[in-house]
Amino acid sequence: MKAAVLNKYGSFIIEERLKPQTKDDEVLIKVKFASICGTDQHIFKGEFHPRTKLPFIPGHEFSGRIEFVGKNVSGFKVGEKVAVDPIIPCGECQACKRNHYPACVSLKLIGIDLDGGFTEYLNVKPEMIYKVPEQVKDEHAALIEILSIGFHASKRAQVGKDDSIAIWGAGKVGQSILYASKTISSGKIFVVDIIEERLQMVKSVFPDVEVINALHTNPVNRIKERTGNNGVDIAFEAVGHATHIPERYNPVRSCINAIRGGGKICVLGLSDEPAEILMKEMIWKEAILVTSRVSHGEYQDSINALAEGKLNPDKMISAVMDIDDVQNAFALLENHPDKHLKILLKISE
Ligand SMILES: NC(=O)c1ccc[n+]([C@@H]2O[C@H](COP(=O)([O-])OP(=O)(O)OC[C@H]3O[C@@H](n4cnc5c(N)ncnc54)[C@H](O)[C@@H]3O)[C@@H](O)[C@H]2O)c1
Ligand SMILES: [Zn+2]
Ligand SMILES: [Zn+2]
Repeated sequence: MKAAVLNKYGSFIIEERLKPQTKDDEVLIKVKFASICGTDQHIFKGEFHPRTKLPFIPGHEFSGRIEFVGKNVSGFKVGEKVAVDPIIPCGECQACKRNHYPACVSLKLIGIDLDGGFTEYLNVKPEMIYKVPEQVKDEHAALIEILSIGFHASKRAQVGKDDSIAIWGAGKVGQSILYASKTISSGKIFVVDIIEERLQMVKSVFPDVEVINALHTNPVNRIKERTGNNGVDIAFEAVGHATHIPERYNPVRSCINAIRGGGKICVLGLSDEPAEILMKEMIWKEAILVTSRVSHGEYQDSINALAEGKLNPDKMISAVMDIDDVQNAFALLENHPDKHLKILLKISE
């Protein structure tokens, strides 16, 4: 079988490997599409060293079909279309014992801690598999992982049906929050970024969303103006490592300033830099700050939304490339964030 192997940081090779043996308690998946994530870009550049060990096969966002079912596994049939939740909680820590898997102290993921889906076949445990109805396109099924991050964030922030929302970051995560929120709320939504093409991408899918380029417009002021000087019910931070813009607050502090009294902030960005905030700006509003990490069973929300046609992520996919072009795909994502959001690798027919 073919595999895209990162054999040194910054460099993939396509390797022929033996199809893996399936244990009795495992299911063999034939991968069809794998989606490249920002985390994969960090792994590619060596920023996850030593968590990832070379040679390594990334890929934690993928769809495929069941190829073989181990003899102790029930409930799955060969040929079924599936998506795989890459999360492997330890099951032992306090968070796991409280059924709070995203906070597991030694959370592992396929494609980050173990070899992943940039390969034709891989074995997974049955509890990681979600069945995907045939009417969901294989390409869309490869986006279920990232969409679930959006649904999980919406749950953490308890998005309601009329809530007004501001999202900082029109990247992969910000747009996933947008797509998920759109299936829940009919309230006013604002999206803030500094890459105009990404904002126009959002506008082309959701003409009623107000996009704000923070380079040219003060987003907090604009949101206040548009909400009768109140602010939004919920603000999401999905930027992480933020570009500093003179005379603007950082994205986290901007979120705090963009919400109404009693509103909520939900932070997802994983920056290594501290984000300066002023606590009294939160206290005066009795604001609620929550965070959101990966997902927790929201695969089913994503699958339902896709199957029922409530969500169409076609425009999130900026290119579909053959597994043989993996090196080029990573270069495009790195050098052209204005043109590319999600690139899918076609792994097998
Ligand atoms: N919490 C989670 O579950 C989770 C999951 C995946 C990724 N992440 C993190 O979320 C963050 C975003 O990930 P992504 O894949 O969407 O990245 P991305 O690079 O695609 O998107 C980030 C966006 O923020 C924009 N931006 C930069 N500085 C800005 C500023 N000052 N104001 C407004 N916008 C600004 C960029 O132009 C870009 O479009 C990262 O830190 C990532 O590590 C969190
Ligand atoms: Zn990812
Ligand atoms: Zn745990």
